[in-house]
Amino acid sequence: MKKIIVNNYEEASSVAAALFAEQIWQKPDTVLGLATGGTPVGLYNRLAAMNKAGALDFSRVVSYNLDEYYPILKSNDQSYDYFMRDNLFNHINIKPENIHLPNGEAKDPAAECAAYDAAIAAAGGIDLQLLGIGVNGHLGFNEPEAALHAGTHLTDLTPSTLQANARFFGDDPSKVPTQALTMGIGTIMSARKIVMIATGAVKAPIIKDLFSGRISTNNPGSFLLLHPDATVIVDRAAMGE
Ligand code: F6R
Repeated sequence: MKKIIVNNYEEASSVAAALFAEQIWQKPDTVLGLATGGTPVGLYNRLAAMNKAGALDFSRVVSYNLDEYYPILKSNDQSYDYFMRDNLFNHINIKPENIHLPNGEAKDPAAECAAYDAAIAAAGGIDLQLLGIGVNGHLGFNEPEAALHAGTHLTDLTPSTLQANARFFGDDPSKVPTQALTMGIGTIMSARKIVMIATGAVKAPIIKDLFSGRISTNNPGSFLLLHPDATVIVDRAAMGE
C-alpha cells in the first residue's frame, strides 16, 4: 500500500485529481468506481474544472458508484444518485448511459445487487476505484462485522454510521435510512487500482489502525493492505499530527 501524506484536504484533493486525470488520459474509456460523502467533493470540483477547461474528457468514461441508501428515491436530495449529479455528473461530459449506481428504488434488492456485479464484470471490471473511509473503518457500506460480504449486497447501517451521516439529515440520526446497497469487499478489491482519501482528525484513530498493518474485518479498510495497487492519500490531521 502506497502512502501519500499531504498537508490538508485541498492538497489531498489535488493529488487525487492528478491521479484520476492521469488514469483517464492513459485510458479514455476508463471504468471508474466512485464514492460519495464529504471526502470526494474537492476531487470532483477539480475534475469538473479540468473538464470545463477542455483538459479532461469524460465522453468515454464509465462509472459505477460504491453504494446507495435503501430504500431511497433518486429525487431525494440526500440520495447518492442526487449527490453524484449535483457534485460531478451535471458538470462533466460523461454520457448518462455510462453512469451507474445501485438503484435505491429497486423492488428486489437481491436481484439489483446481482445485476450490479454482473454489469461491472461485463464492463471489464473497475480500472480505478475511489474510496473514503468511515470513522469505523467502513469501505462503501461494508461495516465492521465478524464476516464481510464479497459481492454487492443489502446491508444494515451501524449506529456509528447513522450518527456520522446524521449531519446530512438535519443532524437527526433517526432520519438516516437504516439500510444501503453496497459493493462488497470483493467487488472493491477486484478493482485494478484503488485510491483512498482520508482527511481530518476524526479519521486519525482508524488510519492509525490501518497503518498498524493488522488486517481485520473490524476495520474493513485494512483489506487495502492486501491490494496490489492501492494508494492512500492522508492529510496531517488524519495522521494524528
Ligand atoms: C460513500 C461511502 C462511504 C464514505 C465514508 C466516509 O460512498 O462509501 O464509505 O466514503 O463514510 O465519508 P466522508 O467522506 O463523508 O467522511
